[in-house]
Amino acid sequence: MAGKGFTVKKHWDNPVEHEMPANACVPAEMRIGKVLVAPATVLAPMAGVTDTVFRRFIRHASLFSTGIEGQRDQRTTDAGTPGLPTAREDAETGVNAEVTNLQSGCGLLMTEFTSADGLSRMRESKRKRYLTFYDDEHPIGAQLFGSNAETLGEAARIVQDTGFDTVDLNLGCPAKRVVGCNGGSGLLRDLPKIGEIFRTVRKAVTIPFTVKYRLGWNDANIICVELARMAESEGLDALALHARTREQAYTGQARWEWIAAIQQAVSIPVIGNGDIRTPEDAAAMIAKTGCDAVMIGRAAPANPWIFRQIAQYTATGRYDQPTVEDRYRMIRAYFQMLLDESEASAGDRNAVVREVAGKMKQFASWFTHGVPGGAKLRAQIYQAKTGAAVLEQVDAFFTSHAGDGSEPESDCDAAAGLTDAAELVCD
Ligand SMILES: Cc1cc2nc3c(=O)[nH]c(=O)nc-3n(C[C@H](O)[C@H](O)[C@H](O)COP(=O)(O)O)c2cc1C
Repeated sequence: MAGKGFTVKKHWDNPVEHEMPANACVPAEMRIGKVLVAPATVLAPMAGVTDTVFRRFIRHASLFSTGIEGQRDQRTTDAGTPGLPTAREDAETGVNAEVTNLQSGCGLLMTEFTSADGLSRMRESKRKRYLTFYDDEHPIGAQLFGSNAETLGEAARIVQDTGFDTVDLNLGCPAKRVVGCNGGSGLLRDLPKIGEIFRTVRKAVTIPFTVKYRLGWNDANIICVELARMAESEGLDALALHARTREQAYTGQARWEWIAAIQQAVSIPVIGNGDIRTPEDAAAMIAKTGCDAVMIGRAAPANPWIFRQIAQYTATGRYDQPTVEDRYRMIRAYFQMLLDESEASAGDRNAVVREVAGKMKQFASWFTHGVPGGAKLRAQIYQAKTGAAVLEQVDAFFTSHAGDGSEPESDCDAAAGLTDAAELVCD
């Protein structure tokens, strides 16, 4: 779903450092219609990132229980995946082996955005590729984009029949290819059309229906409060606001004051989005806006522990920073999951191998920030041709760096790596 013709660097512009507020933390839960989101944290939809493997990785990486703190370094899963708790450990600590949203620090997962036109035209077998998810991903929302109300209604029905818990409409994507067809943020210039879409999709499904949108097309056209009121009156169940205009793309800072403004204007749940990089930021957004939940995008691939850190902070008032060993276990766990999924997937083997290697390269550049010598590892990984070869490089790197006490990369290196990682294609 790459939106050719619109590229924005994937990094934070002069991020604000927030102090942890004295009297605010991320709420334990939120309800979107009948769907319980606990804790009130959401993984943002990200094209090219939040596929089923990444979503499950985040759900598991976000496992948090005070009872099992300190044991995590010795863990291996039943399947031998490092970094995740075993069923036996879970039984010992009173935590079910099965991941539920109550144990994971991430309360709701979202798919990458999917074209409603494409979905409604596709054969059923092909649809599955776009809408694949596993039982441990519940609750999970599917995001759609498009501009035709009937087609969006039909696609929403497909989403519901596939078993998703919620369906979301994308009114934020700035990609020219999407905006050119009046989809994504292009629709922000046409409120009556949005109203028609809201009504049609609402009638088409019984699962909760949400919208994720930006402030407006540009500063002269900020319509987020009006849109929020319309969504509420048309029966939508929640709103997620990325607090920037389309014209702003990813520049400057997200303007959280608009999240506060829509929170004041409606009584359906409001999910705040934009520039959360740390647990402090998440709590600060709650304190400053009163929003019901936080949605986290770019910080999730850069720091897959973010949801766990938020949960740990909420439970204990402090949170751990990952060690180099933690990073190793994390990158290995994710890569192994990608390889396992590719083994199971049908289709052209060479294409699958290339795709997996590509994903590993993309994620290596996110994950290895802050690791001593991370830039060298990234360079080595870019030479590798297959997923297995990437994994070998990772193993060799971490074995040779185990306990060498080198200085971590500076924040500047990390920011540069983020910029290299991938170019922003969508919102
Ligand atoms: C690589 C990438 C892909 C994205 N794809 C989508 C998408 O498919 N749908 C969507 O609503 N937003 C998309 N977004 C926007 C995020 O969901 C989120 O609104 C944005 O990154 C701001 O949140 P953050 O500061 O926590 O990253 C994407 C962002 C990135 C970086």
